[in-house]
Amino acid sequence: MNGSNPVVPLTLVIFGASGDLTSRKLVPSLYRLFVKGRLPASTQIVGVSRTLLSNDEFRSKMAKSVQEFAGREWSSETWSTFAQSLFYAAGDAANEGGLANLRVFLTNRESSTQGGARLYYFSVSPDLYEGILKKLDEAGFLEEAKPENWRRLVVEKPFGKDLASAQSLNRSMSRFLREDQIYRIDHYLAKENVQNLLVFRFANTLFEPLWNHNYIDHVQLTVAESVLVGNRGDYYDHAGVLRDMFQNHLLQVLTVMAMEAPSKYTADLLRNEKVKVLEAITIPTIEQAKKQMAIGQYQGYLKEKGVPNTSRTPTFASIRLDIDNWRWRGVPFYLRSGKAMQTRASEILIQFHCPPHLMFPLPDGAKLQCNRLAVCIQPDEGIHLSFQTKVPDQEKLVLKPADMEFTYGKAFSSLSIPESYERLLLDALLGDASLFMRSDEIERSWEIIDPFIRAYEQQGGILPESYPVGSMGPENSERLLQENGREWIPLYANRNPES
Ligand code: BG6
Repeated sequence: MNGSNPVVPLTLVIFGASGDLTSRKLVPSLYRLFVKGRLPASTQIVGVSRTLLSNDEFRSKMAKSVQEFAGREWSSETWSTFAQSLFYAAGDAANEGGLANLRVFLTNRESSTQGGARLYYFSVSPDLYEGILKKLDEAGFLEEAKPENWRRLVVEKPFGKDLASAQSLNRSMSRFLREDQIYRIDHYLAKENVQNLLVFRFANTLFEPLWNHNYIDHVQLTVAESVLVGNRGDYYDHAGVLRDMFQNHLLQVLTVMAMEAPSKYTADLLRNEKVKVLEAITIPTIEQAKKQMAIGQYQGYLKEKGVPNTSRTPTFASIRLDIDNWRWRGVPFYLRSGKAMQTRASEILIQFHCPPHLMFPLPDGAKLQCNRLAVCIQPDEGIHLSFQTKVPDQEKLVLKPADMEFTYGKAFSSLSIPESYERLLLDALLGDASLFMRSDEIERSWEIIDPFIRAYEQQGGILPESYPVGSMGPENSERLLQENGREWIPLYANRNPES
């Protein structure tokens, strides 16, 4: 700290502080940042929600969940120091008088001469965004008197339920804040190996020349979850897997995989390139979408709490997307995601073309496994390149695929993979929006996914096929690839290393 120029207090105001996200992700991540010495020294955190709690009650509630979710990093001494920056201001933020306690807090805790910088975090239903923004505006809480008194807002997903609602949400938010003040979260972008994909592609020269239709046959992107919908049935049944996972996480990972290199690593240049990928994706008509997708519902979904027993909501989907640009013309991207699947694993599989001519004889009926690159996003973060080798000391020449591997676990064994929210919270506090979605990205993503949603939601739309819990989804998902002579390649997470 510079004595003549005191550091401006930085206040993180979490709306929806009594909710699950605050206790499971936000406060444990802030605590870990504090342990690592990364949380700016002047940071204070204040939770706002309707539940009446004192500062001490809020702190002890958070202490319990941090013990549970911060794992090895928990220490009661460190927590006591951290907890001194943790406060609570009860209030119904979207209603008259709901910000009174927050006002008292800010008046007491921000510097009277310097004011403060503020990051608002909306961990509330999107229906409340406009109401809370209106009240913040009326209270003068969005004013930026000086550049150091910046105001930013982080919003959670879901951001709308289709293109029209996302546009309307963007419009209403833009009445109160500039685009550069709005940080829309997609926690998949903060996964270590998704960020590493940019480094892998653009800090090396080896693969980039191959990263196009000349060498790549197709791409498979899987985000498989083994969990069921649990107690989120009410939300999930209105969303379904396409809104819950595709419009955001899968499309975001796809853009990182497919984008061109920006000239600098800055939020806007990066996001410009991602938007260009989204713009190049061909938007199918509803009839075409029906042919480019397969949907499923796990057995037992209709008995989940909050799910009507006539529900047609898909809990699994696979879709084909085509990127109509110079690099990707003719390379299908197959995306799939579902609940109740065999494994929890997120992977990008890049299937390269086969050699134009094979001089080695293969046993009858055998097929050559052509080069593959697997980018494992979770659980075992790593990159695997598979290629053919000659098996030693055989009577005849025998080929077998082998792997060159990089795994975070081995390469950085003393460092653990951080929780995505650590990265995102720190970036938002520091003003780096690279890993957050811009309004045009969100809107274009909905435009791409909307026809697939309509293909089953409209009258007479396609029906989900049932699939057993613990499987890799319904059979029609296999057919989606078989039509083009391809198949889903077994996930790395499921592979048998001996085979
Ligand atoms: C959320 C979805 O955005 O992502 C959940 O709403 C899903 O349904 C979760 O389970 C998956 O995230 P992760 O990080 O556990 O793969």
